[in-house]
Amino acid sequence: MYSHILVPTDGTALSVHTVTKAVEFARTVGARITFFYADPDASASLTDDAALLKLIAPDTYRDDYSGRAREILSKAAVSAGAAGIECETVSRTSTRPHAAILAATDELGCDLIFMSSHGPRSFGGVMLGSETLKVLVGAKVPVLVSSVEKNDPAPAMNMVTSIMKDEHRSIAVVAYGLRTFARGLQENRPVDFDLLKSMLGYLRAFPSKLHHPKEEAYLFKKVQERTAELDPLITELQRQHREGDAALHALVEAIETLGTATPDERIAFVTRLESFAGEQLKHIGMEENRIMPAASRCLLPEDWATIARAFGENGDLRFAEETRESFRRLFSRIANLQ
Ligand SMILES: [Fe+2]
Ligand SMILES: [Fe+2]
Repeated sequence: MYSHILVPTDGTALSVHTVTKAVEFARTVGARITFFYADPDASASLTDDAALLKLIAPDTYRDDYSGRAREILSKAAVSAGAAGIECETVSRTSTRPHAAILAATDELGCDLIFMSSHGPRSFGGVMLGSETLKVLVGAKVPVLVSSVEKNDPAPAMNMVTSIMKDEHRSIAVVAYGLRTFARGLQENRPVDFDLLKSMLGYLRAFPSKLHHPKEEAYLFKKVQERTAELDPLITELQRQHREGDAALHALVEAIETLGTATPDERIAFVTRLESFAGEQLKHIGMEENRIMPAASRCLLPEDWATIARAFGENGDLRFAEETRESFRRLFSRIANLQ
């Protein structure tokens, strides 16, 4: 039916949800995916703060703007990879995203565009919301509008699950990166130790300071208030959080002496690195395949609203926008170094 699907994404919670839906759809029809990001080139506008930032602080500009494509697309690619779907990622700089989407569809020979919409009354300035209608009008191939944000019957639940999944994708991108490092060390290839340290540092900071506490304080807690059936699974996930943190701490210490390590110690480090990365991916799989579907069945709209408030602005201070933003920048730096 369809063999090559173009999936535009802009990194918003809605497009994270769309990426998940697109991957499910591609699996059903046996198609491959090209994830597409239209980079708005923020610095092109002389009235924009970005132009000034590019001049006075190029590193910050790179983290905030120009690294965005790689950051967003690497997470989408992980979603497809986890489902065994063949995918590519493409970005184009354009101030007219709908034209870039249509041009890429032609150029790459895609036979379906799969996207979402913020709805006809959206003036949020978010790329895909304002562009969907223009794509629908101009497309020469079918366009599947997977969801319209304004019609979402469970916005709080979808917001929370999109945030959780997006954070899982960041962790997974880094975990796959660790596996690449492990292979490099095993084959005695030159390895960028500073990047390896940044990746371990990111995992040490982000999951333990933001992601795990959020899961335990809100998602797991609310599920346990509604049912005792999932207690053994939640206990296991909490154990994995603690053991993962301990394993990571040991890896961060071990890397300091890796330069003078014996061949056996090096092999032991590689084994631990691989096993740690594998455990992270397994943990994410358990949460997405077991706890999240269970939560969507047993939690009530008011539970999701409480969780969504805690994750949003003015919610629980530990998960404030500023904290999220500093982790996003760190992830962007890592995604763009790989
Ligand atoms: Fe977790
Ligand atoms: Fe998680």
